[in-house]
Amino acid sequence: MKFGILTSGGDCPGLNAVIRGAVLKGIKVYGQEFVGFRDGWRGVVEGDIMDLPRQSVRGISKQGGTILGTSRTNPFEGNGGPEVIKAHMDRLGIDAIIAIGGEGTLAAARRLTDAGLNIVGVPKTVDNDLDATDYTFGFDTAVQIATEAIDRLRTTGESHHRCMVAEVMGRHVGWIALHAGMATGAHAILIPEQATSLEQIATWVNEAHERGRAPLVVVAEGFVPDHQDSPHSERGLDAFGRPRLGGIGEQLAPQIEAMTGIETRATVLGHIQRGGVPSAFDRVLATRLGMAAIDSVVEQRWGTMVSLNGTEIEHVPFEEALGNLKTVPQHRYDEAAILFG
Ligand code: F6P
Repeated sequence: MKFGILTSGGDCPGLNAVIRGAVLKGIKVYGQEFVGFRDGWRGVVEGDIMDLPRQSVRGISKQGGTILGTSRTNPFEGNGGPEVIKAHMDRLGIDAIIAIGGEGTLAAARRLTDAGLNIVGVPKTVDNDLDATDYTFGFDTAVQIATEAIDRLRTTGESHHRCMVAEVMGRHVGWIALHAGMATGAHAILIPEQATSLEQIATWVNEAHERGRAPLVVVAEGFVPDHQDSPHSERGLDAFGRPRLGGIGEQLAPQIEAMTGIETRATVLGHIQRGGVPSAFDRVLATRLGMAAIDSVVEQRWGTMVSLNGTEIEHVPFEEALGNLKTVPQHRYDEAAILFG
């Protein structure tokens, strides 16, 4: 049996560990063969592959990025679609696809599975916003990177008696902001799930300042102040028609300064959160998910993805995974908010 692996959508630390886990288990336990599709669905639609022998995955679980490349190509657009992909798979002798990606990738995988293709999924998102898995790999690393960076912002903020605003990733959900904010002792954490007024933010900043602290605000890129209808976006749309986010920190900083009189600076952490080596937690999770994806193909569980439930890896149907976003529940925000101000 021969399987094709792809990584699609935004990259995140741990993708290579999934590839290694899948290839090593497939070769060692089942004598399977593997190829990689280059640049996500683009490689699938164009039949652009590379061989993945055992030596190609040597030592890569600690390597950031993805050795296969990625893209935000939609496999149903342009020359894509199930017939074209099936023809490439038949020509290349590929029996099934292991698709590693986030919600957009898995939604496309579901449509292709419905059209009769053999696909299993591995969930991936630094945002940690997929409901059917307790954690996605990449999230732990992103929180660690954000925490280290915000600790640094804290010391320069304290030297200058400034308010520091740190913008982190989180398109629909505020998990990175919540965890990095709690880890760094933020005086306000602003997340997409909780519309908040500028007055409330200024109150928290003032309270911290009055105690002699340099106020720290951690904001997720998808945060919407209560006087706005949608997240801050001024960089057009991505390939799936979603607004490119980023810039809410720069929007808030002068507003906070004007309302509090405290000099304020904003820093966007951006793609730094997705780069570099994965944490030990993410390497282990990603490796286990890659190995479990081999069980999925052996058991022909087409249309399912592997997921983490507690400490065990399970298999769940795509529809379960795609139904809901895993948002920050109210009690988790309320718990963190006790520490604001
Ligand atoms: O979906 C993960 C994510 O990192 C979001 O947090 C962010 O909005 C987006 O990807 C950035 O995408 P790109 O890499 O295309 O700039």
